[in-house]
Amino acid sequence: MSPFQLTRTLPEDATDAALRADVLYGLTRTPKTLPPKWFYDARGSELFEEITELPEYYPTRAEREILLTRSAEIAEATAARTLVELGSGSSDKTRHLLDELPDLHTYVPVDVSESALKQAGQALLAERPELNVHAMIADFTRGLTLPDTPGPRLVAFLGGTIGNLLPAERAEFLASVRSLLAPGDALLLGTDLVKDESVLVAAYDDAAGVTAAFNKNVLAVVNRELGADFDPAAFAHVALWDRDKEWIEMRLRALQPLSVKVPALDLAVDFEQDEELRTEISAKFRKDGVRAELAAARLELTHWWTDTAGRFALSLSMAR
Ligand code: AVJ
Repeated sequence: MSPFQLTRTLPEDATDAALRADVLYGLTRTPKTLPPKWFYDARGSELFEEITELPEYYPTRAEREILLTRSAEIAEATAARTLVELGSGSSDKTRHLLDELPDLHTYVPVDVSESALKQAGQALLAERPELNVHAMIADFTRGLTLPDTPGPRLVAFLGGTIGNLLPAERAEFLASVRSLLAPGDALLLGTDLVKDESVLVAAYDDAAGVTAAFNKNVLAVVNRELGADFDPAAFAHVALWDRDKEWIEMRLRALQPLSVKVPALDLAVDFEQDEELRTEISAKFRKDGVRAELAAARLELTHWWTDTAGRFALSLSMAR
C-alpha cells in the first residue's frame, strides 16, 4: 500500500453550497458579515503567506520560535505515534515537530485544500519515506472521523486560527476535538496573546497594505464564485481592537452608498455610506482563559510555552 492516502469527507460541491449559504446569511443581516474562511482562494493564500513575512505580523515567527525550541519537549510529553494537524496548509511549521518524532507512525494533515494537501504530503514523503501520510480533505469545524492509527494521538491546531471562532463556536470546536481523543491523547493549540493595542492593530493594518488587499480579496472571491459585482476600490480596510471582547475585528467600510448584485443568489445588497461589513474576528487570549476553555471541554492544560517576547503561546493539554 502507498504510504500516501487521501480521503475526502467533503462532497465536491460542498464548498459552493457553503459559500452560498454564508453569503446569503451574512449579507442580509445587520451588521453584515462574511466568515474569514472565504479569504483563502489561491490569491488569498498567497497574500496570507506574504502577511506572515511582514514586519508587523509577529504571530507566525513567534509560533515558529516556540516550535523550534520546544518540539523535543512536546515529543517527550506526548510520545505521539499519530499526529493530526487541523488546517495543515503547507505543513511548514510542523516540520520542526515531525523532526522530533522519530517513532511517529502516521501524519494526518486535515485541510479543505486538496492542492495544499498533495503538495505538502509529497514534500514530506521525500524526506520521510517510511512515514504514513493520511491526508484528509475535510472541514474540521464539522464532525471529523480519524483513520484507525496507533495512539497516542496528538492533535495540533496552530497559527492562532482558533481565534477566528466566536466563544460559543470555540466551545463547540474544542468539544468535537475532545471527542476524537482517548485518555492520554493530547491537543497542541496555538493562541495569540492579549498585548498592547498599537502592536495588535499594526499587525492587522500593515504599512504596505498587504492585509488590506487580503481583506478585500474576499470580495473578489464572491465576485468570481457567485457573479457579484463588488468594487473592491469602493471599500476601505478597517482593523480595530475590541477591548471588551479582546479581539481584533477586520471590516470593509463602504466609501459611498452602494448597491451590489449577487446574481447566483438572485440578491441585491445595499450599503449605506460608511456601513461596515465584518470579515474576521481574531481573538487574543490569556493563560487563565485558555485553561478554562480547555477544561470546559475536558482537556487539562499541562504545558504553556511562549516566545521570548511573550506575544504568542503554545499550550499542550491532555485528555484524561
Ligand atoms: C490565519 C487566522 C491566524 O487571525 O491572525 C492575518 C489570519 N487575518 N491577518 C489571524 C489573518 C489578518 C490569521 N490566522
